[in-house]
Amino acid sequence: PAINAYQHIDPVIAHRGASGHAPENTAAAIRLAAEHGARWIEVDATISAEGVAVIFHDSELKRCSDGIGHVAQLKLSELKKLDCGSWFSSDFKNERLLTLTELLSLANQLELNINLEVKPNIGRETETVWAIRSALQQVPFEHTLLLSSFNHHALKACQLHLEDIPRALNVDAIPYNWQERVEEYNCQGLHFCADFFDEKLVRQIAEQGFPLACFTVNDPEQAQHLWNAGVVSVFSDYPYRLIQQGRKTQQ
Ligand code: G3P
Ligand code: MG
Repeated sequence: PAINAYQHIDPVIAHRGASGHAPENTAAAIRLAAEHGARWIEVDATISAEGVAVIFHDSELKRCSDGIGHVAQLKLSELKKLDCGSWFSSDFKNERLLTLTELLSLANQLELNINLEVKPNIGRETETVWAIRSALQQVPFEHTLLLSSFNHHALKACQLHLEDIPRALNVDAIPYNWQERVEEYNCQGLHFCADFFDEKLVRQIAEQGFPLACFTVNDPEQAQHLWNAGVVSVFSDYPYRLIQQGRKTQQ
């Protein structure tokens, strides 16, 4: 059976690494998250043409690299040639796309826990989950790993092929039938978008003891508000800001 990831969770998770200060989902952003005191990172997993698990948010390359086209249509050897740092700042020129095995080694080294978000890869969801499983076989992960996804097929594939790894459901707004949805995938937690924060509903779910996390929160006051409502963790592009402020418990 899966361990309970939320027993190990922190109030702040570095969203795509410290992505406010370094190019998202790169080694630079992950190192910086650790330097800034984060103990958890969230990164996005997708696959290359030949089915290797890689860390990248978008299905298209253009926003976060000097490449064009779709990540899933290029081979790893081609993806590795891309500059994934200059789009952010010339200080990060030549930052390379990470494979999941590289990410796992880096997080082992930096003692970081990981929330790996499985990106949809429409039609290749199962293959993506196989690629994640294969990376985990190559580099056993030493800390806590939590999988999450917005995608039905990806979560079903995780349940089938990575059954002992805790899972969370990602949603934008929390749906009225949230309980049914999380039960459908046997999820340990629910991650929702801050733009759709419904305080009453959040308090109700938190009172039931079901773990909620919220993305993306860069304002310390907003983080405090969410923590007060019972949200256990917030994803932030600026984890340093939120960690510095710290979570104040209410009297
Ligand atoms: O996993 C939480 C959050 O990262 C989901 O949205 O678009 O930032 O991957 P996105
Ligand atoms: Mg994500």
